[in-house]
Amino acid sequence: MRLYEDLVRPFLFRFDPEGVHHATMMACRVAGTSSIAKSFAQRVFGTPPDARLETTVAGIRFPNPVGLGAGYDKNGEGVEFLSRLGFGYIDVGSVSHSPSAGNTARPRLFRIPADEGLMVYYGVPSDGAPTVAARLSGRRLPVPLGVTIVETNTGKPNDPSAVIAEMTEAVAPFVGVVDLLFVSAACANDTTGAHPFSDLENLRRLLASFARYDAIPPVFLKIRATVDQIDRIVEISNEFPFVKGFRPGIIAPRPYIGFNTPAEELARMPGTATGPFRKPVLLATLREWYARIDRTRHSLIAHAGIRSGRDAYEAIRAGASLTGLVTALVYEGPGLARRINEELAALLQADGFANVADAVGADHAQPVRDPVPA
Ligand SMILES: Cc1cc2nc3c(=O)[nH]c(=O)nc-3n(C[C@H](O)[C@H](O)[C@H](O)COP(=O)(O)O)c2cc1C
Repeated sequence: MRLYEDLVRPFLFRFDPEGVHHATMMACRVAGTSSIAKSFAQRVFGTPPDARLETTVAGIRFPNPVGLGAGYDKNGEGVEFLSRLGFGYIDVGSVSHSPSAGNTARPRLFRIPADEGLMVYYGVPSDGAPTVAARLSGRRLPVPLGVTIVETNTGKPNDPSAVIAEMTEAVAPFVGVVDLLFVSAACANDTTGAHPFSDLENLRRLLASFARYDAIPPVFLKIRATVDQIDRIVEISNEFPFVKGFRPGIIAPRPYIGFNTPAEELARMPGTATGPFRKPVLLATLREWYARIDRTRHSLIAHAGIRSGRDAYEAIRAGASLTGLVTALVYEGPGLARRINEELAALLQADGFANVADAVGADHAQPVRDPVPA
């Protein structure tokens, strides 16, 4: 009997997804105040230290390459507890400069269990950067802490200059508070559908504006791009030494094809689908990016459909230095990160890699020919 899959999940899945998520976050917040709960979680769910999994990216040491992605802890309320669940880093957010309620429509989070996925239509609700940063300030966590900065969802298109100004201001309270800064330059979830950064000149202006912070943490851009745009994004990023890499965005275009969930059911749900079905696109996208980045200065972070050690391993071989997930945690519960890490360590070892860094981009190496028999 598997405790989470057989008992906890069927119980939780009887209730509204967003309500369950709020209750889970409240439980994480309370558990995070108890040193007994934290050390219990670390012992039961924590990933034991393993030199094969340890990796350094952008000068930061990660105990393992499997992070908790943004969207799970949007406002930094549960980091004390969540950082004991075996993940290699925590990405809080997305956080906008001003507080926002997100999309007003309800429901705005849906389960699609037949595909082990979710449909997300939150529209980036946020307590706002000053509040979240104050909550995170002074925390000493066992893993690196990141935050994702996003444009405030006002429900109407904003002038790019105003977006650049407010996102720059949103960064300020996090300088000296977080280890990593993720910058959402293509949020699929605001109500306007307008992305100022689809004009890459606005991306350059945003990064130029960030340059005012001397001690800005390493920046990773969350961005979706066509193959043609990747070169231009890399070129722009090369102008700013604090940009250390990219988390390529993956989107499954509507209508969703090849899902187990009936099309009529999916059509009734607004938002963006997440789940394991995105993994093939993720791998193809990583390969495109890895072939184009300057690997001495930029690293890739893989998100989308990762739920096993093999998934993480394939993403690493395709070019990712770190991976992350959200959806699988909902389906598999708190033992997930440790299981993925244990599977990943075994796969690295089986293929003769000493550690994660050795395997990054392995699929891009020249194929080794079988030795010619003498
Ligand atoms: C419920 C939910 C909320 C999310 N909210 C955010 C968010 O606020 N900001 C963000 O950058 N990504 C957000 N994401 C995207 C995740 O961080 C992740 O990149 C994506 O879901 C792909 O990984 P997965 O297949 O493991 O879920 C969200 C995902 C989910 C499922």
